[in-house]
Order: sequence, then C-alpha cells, then structure tokens
Amino acid sequence: KSIAIFASGTGSNFQALVNAFAGRTDIVIRALVCDHADAPVVAKATRAQIPVIVVDYRTAGSKTTAERRILAQLPPIDLIVLAGYMRILGPTLLNAYPQRIINLHPALLPSFPGRTGIEDAWHYGVKVTGVTVHYVDAGVDSGQIIAQVPVPITTGMSLEDLTAQIHRVEHQLLPATVRQLVQGGTI
Ligand code: GRF
Repeated sequence: KSIAIFASGTGSNFQALVNAFAGRTDIVIRALVCDHADAPVVAKATRAQIPVIVVDYRTAGSKTTAERRILAQLPPIDLIVLAGYMRILGPTLLNAYPQRIINLHPALLPSFPGRTGIEDAWHYGVKVTGVTVHYVDAGVDSGQIIAQVPVPITTGMSLEDLTAQIHRVEHQLLPATVRQLVQGGTI
C-alpha cells in the first residue's frame, strides 16, 4: 500500500515510520506533506529520498485552496497519516479520502484533545495518560479510535520524563497501527 505522511515540525514520528517500513514493498511512503518549508521534518524526508510537498497555507489564502494544491500534487495513495500535522483538515481533503486518514495524538482520547495533550494530562494530575491513533473527521482529535496504549504517570515523574515516554510509545504505536491496517486488509 502507498501512504503519505503529513507533518509540520520535528518529524520524529515521520522518522519512526521511515525506519519501520524501510525495505518493505507492501508499505511504501510516497510523500511527505508539510506546511512549513523550513521544518526539520523536510530535511528528514530529503535524507530518506521521500518526495516532499510543501504547501504554505498563508500564501494559498484559504484552507480550501491549500488543500486543493495538496491534492493536485499527491501521488495515488491508500492512506494519509497525520504525524504532528498542526492543521485541522477541511472537507476538501476529508472527502477525498474517506476513512483513509489517521492521526496520532499524545493522550488517551477523548481526554486532553488539542495541541498540548501531554502537558494538560500532567498538569491535571491524572495517573494514567497515553497515546491514541484515530480516524480523522472534521473535529479536533474526535474521530473513531483505532488504537491506544496507556502510559502511567508515576510519583516523581517530571513533565520531561513523561514527554520522552509518550514519544517512545508513539514511535512504536504509529508504525504498528499502519502495519495492522494494511495486514488486516482495512486499507
Ligand atoms: C507528536 O507528539 C504527536 O502526537 C503530536 O505532535 C507530535 C509530533 O512530534 N500530534 P514529531 O514531529 O513526530 O516529533
């Protein structure tokens, strides 16, 4: 199957997917879509020889125009993986890939949606948070849940410790979930 990864920033999850699927012919990363030309994830894609599609939403003027530009440049794909893509998708992309877009979130949804899921869980004082992979719909972190892994917050754990632990779990769960969707025939 062919996948496109959308990411906006560091790209550690992008890198985890690249590493997990290196050498495989049944799961191939065909493109990185990024909304910032200078994001570190772009250099990671270039190094991995994965085609990069950069679409600047500000110069596009509207989300619809930006998404049409993305659609026009995407190769044929079976799945879109949002891995730290800091944009809410609009109907242009959502309708083009129904049940074919998944997102990674660093908390146990429906708790702590939004951009600061790790910090929000830590400050709230929950004893268990975690990582979620879910289908994307028009809401914020609101689509059907596919996979979750809990991460306990133990006594004496700092926010930095928790952040590192969440990322370690993400780097396992996201490739594993893509593998499961492909091997289970869901996509
Ligand atoms: C991850 O924590 C992901 O859950 C969230 O954004 C972060 C992206 O990190 N949506 P990276 O760019 O993959 O390192």
